[in-house]
Amino acid sequence: MWAMQEWRITMIDGQKVLFSGMQATGTLTLGNYLGALKNWLTLSDEYQCFYSVVDLHSITIRQDPAELRKRARNLLMLYIAAGLDPEKNCIYYQSHVSGHAELSWILNCFTYMGELNRMTQYKDKAAKHADNINAGLFTYPVLMAADILLYQADVVPVGKDQMQHLEITRDIAQRFNAIYGDVFTIPEPYIGKTGAHIKSLQNPEKKMSKSDENPNASIYLMDDADTIIRKFRRAVTDSEACVRYSEEQPGIRNLIDIYCACTGKTPQETEREFDGKGYGDFKTAVGESVVDILKPLQTRYEELGKDRAYIDGIIKKNAEKAGYYANKTLRKVQKKVGFPEKIRS
Ligand code: TRP
Repeated sequence: MWAMQEWRITMIDGQKVLFSGMQATGTLTLGNYLGALKNWLTLSDEYQCFYSVVDLHSITIRQDPAELRKRARNLLMLYIAAGLDPEKNCIYYQSHVSGHAELSWILNCFTYMGELNRMTQYKDKAAKHADNINAGLFTYPVLMAADILLYQADVVPVGKDQMQHLEITRDIAQRFNAIYGDVFTIPEPYIGKTGAHIKSLQNPEKKMSKSDENPNASIYLMDDADTIIRKFRRAVTDSEACVRYSEEQPGIRNLIDIYCACTGKTPQETEREFDGKGYGDFKTAVGESVVDILKPLQTRYEELGKDRAYIDGIIKKNAEKAGYYANKTLRKVQKKVGFPEKIRS
């Protein structure tokens, strides 16, 4: 018998483990940056982080292969351009670690149809892609559970839309542990200073989304300065003509949120700063604050795009690192469920 704790990787180098991922579908928006990516940076000091480009998830919707490959690489570069140190954080492609698919299969056998039937994102996506309701779309949350559990993650920073998936992850892990002992760390949602909830510039009731059909609704991370300022000047506001942070002025409120996230100011300071000024001035100032915050990211991204060898090195090294930790968990799970051990000579 082996000691129960021997293989556990809840702590790596004295830090707790964090897992998160993004899909390389669509062009990342300011909402993704201020709501998630920028937060990942702060978290990377405190946790041992695995930030994955989840390309296995992407093919639940039909993709153009060349396009997917390009977007996946761009997203990986964007993680780094946003400031995540790829030496400290494990930034990698999900498809480079076969353990995700292998654990996902095993966990499928510990997940009930009824549970998956309740997932609201599945219902939404099935309605949206009625011509391609494939089994992968249905078991998407199980793959997500595998992502998280494979690294024995303690925390997962997720938005509201992914909370249900984190809950099913915990249920699956607890069910498995109840049968086989203390195999998986039960992940917690990351609670703390959560990222800003950025809304569409054209409809402040809706979240800013990379899949929005109206390009004026979102700021894309690679938009140039003129485009950014123009989109802000066109942003939907109201006729109050007063920069005030209130529920009754959702458009202005959203712009204040963006301004504060970019400048570090508070809504009260912002109200004071623009007291007596028109929306035109305010919108331009918000646009400029966004230009300022995106500029270093864009410059770095361009540089990284030119350095193929460097990025390839990161991809290789981090796939190995992720694979190392993933395999530890996978071996243990395989043993638990009764698969024969490989013969090593
Ligand atoms: N489903 C997530 C999304 O679309 C992405 C994702 C995949 C993820 N696996 C994950 C997020 C594991 C957190 C943890 O946003």
